[in-house]
Amino acid sequence: MLQLLHERFLMQNRSLGIKNNWHSLRIPKFTIVSLLSGMYGRLQEVIVGLSYRMRLILVCISILVMTGVGFLFKNLLLPDSFGVYGPFRADAIEEASQVPIRHGTNDSCFKCHGFEARIHKAGLHKTISCEFCHGTYADHVAGGKKTGILPVKTGEKITTLCLRCHNTEIKARSEEVIKTVALPDHLRDQQVKLTHTCNQCHHVHAPLKYINRAKQITGFMEEGV
Ligand code: HEC
Ligand code: HEC
Ligand code: HEC
Ligand code: HEC
Repeated sequence: MLQLLHERFLMQNRSLGIKNNWHSLRIPKFTIVSLLSGMYGRLQEVIVGLSYRMRLILVCISILVMTGVGFLFKNLLLPDSFGVYGPFRADAIEEASQVPIRHGTNDSCFKCHGFEARIHKAGLHKTISCEFCHGTYADHVAGGKKTGILPVKTGEKITTLCLRCHNTEIKARSEEVIKTVALPDHLRDQQVKLTHTCNQCHHVHAPLKYINRAKQITGFMEEGV
């Protein structure tokens, strides 16, 4: 194996026009390997020559040495605050509490966005976090002032966003929790082109606002609404 590597090394050097190679360093081949195997052979001879009692002592000494080395490494590698409260690093609690908070609550948005707040609170999306659809508070506000622009989705991207929660393909939760629709059936039912995006009929912040109003005007109300 080493021989093979050596030959490839030489070939490479020759092709690069480099004259120096391992020979010029004058290190005899396999020095380390032969040294180690020699030491191992010598050790075996010594052990075979020992009495039963001496071997037992040797085993005990090795156990002691290994335990010592184990404890040494444990002390070197374990973080200082490990085990103060339990089997974890106590400093991690302090460090985690220093991480800046990136998310606000909906209340934090309501302070400046009174118009959206009124619609949002009155609609069926009142339980949904503004930040789920718009991104994090910290990207938008710092020190009580607007500092960054949050992306406002348009067209196709809105449909993708809505379907993350309202797609019938999501089988993991019951239809009772969040009503779902299947595309393109939902658009066919409404007899519109399949290029329609969700926000062309639903107000994104109160999804049944205009639909319910239209029903009131036309008088087509379902029972109990
Ligand atoms: C279900 C997802 C969703 C939620 C929840 C939501 N929004 Fe929106 N919002 C949108 C989408 C999509 C648009 C852009 C399309 C539109 O206005 O019809 C938008 C538009 C906006 C705009 C107008 C941007 C512009 O200049 O055109 C503001 C401001 C806004 N939202 C703030 C909020 C606030 C504040 C909340 C929480 C009270 C909130 N949104 C909750 C999806 C959402
Ligand atoms: C310190 C006041 C303040 C707070 C708090 C605030 N906004 Fe805004 N936001 C503004 C201002 C000012 C604008 C630009 C004018 C406008 O569209 O009303 C804006 C615009 C927006 C827009 C349009 C895109 C943009 O960035 O210009 C969206 C979406 C939005 N905010 C969402 C949110 C959400 C979600 C929250 C809560 C996590 C929030 N805002 C909290 C002040 C604020
Ligand atoms: C984070 C998940 C989530 C997202 C994203 C979301 N919604 Fe909703 N939506 C809900 C929840 C929760 C309700 C209230 C429970 C219900 O009735 O389905 C709801 C209610 C609705 C309803 C009324 C259903 C009913 O009860 O008759 C409509 C319509 C709707 N959303 C449309 C949309 C549209 C359009 C979008 C995209 C702008 C959207 N939703 C994005 C979670 C979401
Ligand atoms: C052409 C208009 C139109 C478009 C586009 C549209 N919807 Fe609707 N949607 C409606 C109407 C109208 C209703 C109410 C039906 C009713 O109450 O019988 C409705 C109802 C719903 C419901 C409640 C279903 C239920 O079981 O009660 C959900 C959820 C919904 N839409 C989500 C979406 C999503 C997500 C999109 C985008 C992929 C979308 N809609 C696009 C008109 C539309």
